[in-house]
Amino acid sequence: MRELALNILDIAENSLRAGATLVEIDLAADFSQDAFSISVRDNGKGMSKEMLASVCDPFTTTRTTRKVGMGLPLFKYSAESAGGTFHITSEEGKGTAVTAAYRISHVDRMPLGDFGGVALQLVTMNPGVDFCFTAKAGDRQGELDTREVRAILGEEIPLGAPEVRAFLKDYIKENLTDIFGGRL
Ligand SMILES: Nc1ncnc2c1ncn2[C@@H]1O[C@H](COP(=O)(O)OP(=O)(O)OP(=O)(O)O)[C@@H](O)[C@H]1O
Ligand SMILES: [Mg+2]
Repeated sequence: MRELALNILDIAENSLRAGATLVEIDLAADFSQDAFSISVRDNGKGMSKEMLASVCDPFTTTRTTRKVGMGLPLFKYSAESAGGTFHITSEEGKGTAVTAAYRISHVDRMPLGDFGGVALQLVTMNPGVDFCFTAKAGDRQGELDTREVRAILGEEIPLGAPEVRAFLKDYIKENLTDIFGGRL
């Protein structure tokens, strides 16, 4: 995997599989501290303590089609191999939160990649799920909360409708460019 955005997609897919109705994804950069963090929180079914303890071991999976789950181990590796840290918390019946932190300048830090594309895909492909994305760097910040967008559009117009999709695509792209300026 060469892009953090694809790691994020993987982690968000775990949330969707856990039945989440809300997935919150936060990106925060502090260029003066050479620090970048990604956090994904969901209100899905969560994990037992035993599951949580072994979940970063690539042989842990509840998938039945194959024996190895790689999403969490790869995300953990992306952070720890780039001078960063990784944390996961989860509570059964409540949800799960995953945070990965990076040294921005570390030679092994993967580029963020097309996070805008991933966000757009998540929003338009999952009509029954709400997403809240935030991006922050210094005093620049932006947010996209599908609950707010839905409130404005009303129930008739889906987020995947061509005009809405085009608007969201530009909105996300402009925000990411303005906030991170291609530095991630
Ligand atoms: N957000 C979550 N909520 C509840 N359970 C989760 C969550 N994320 C991961 N899990 C549990 O941890 C297991 C391991 O997750 P991981 O992403 O590493 O592998 P996977 O999803 O099983 O396979 P892959 O990501 O390679 O498709 C999952 O099978 C699931 O049981
Ligand atoms: Mg997974």
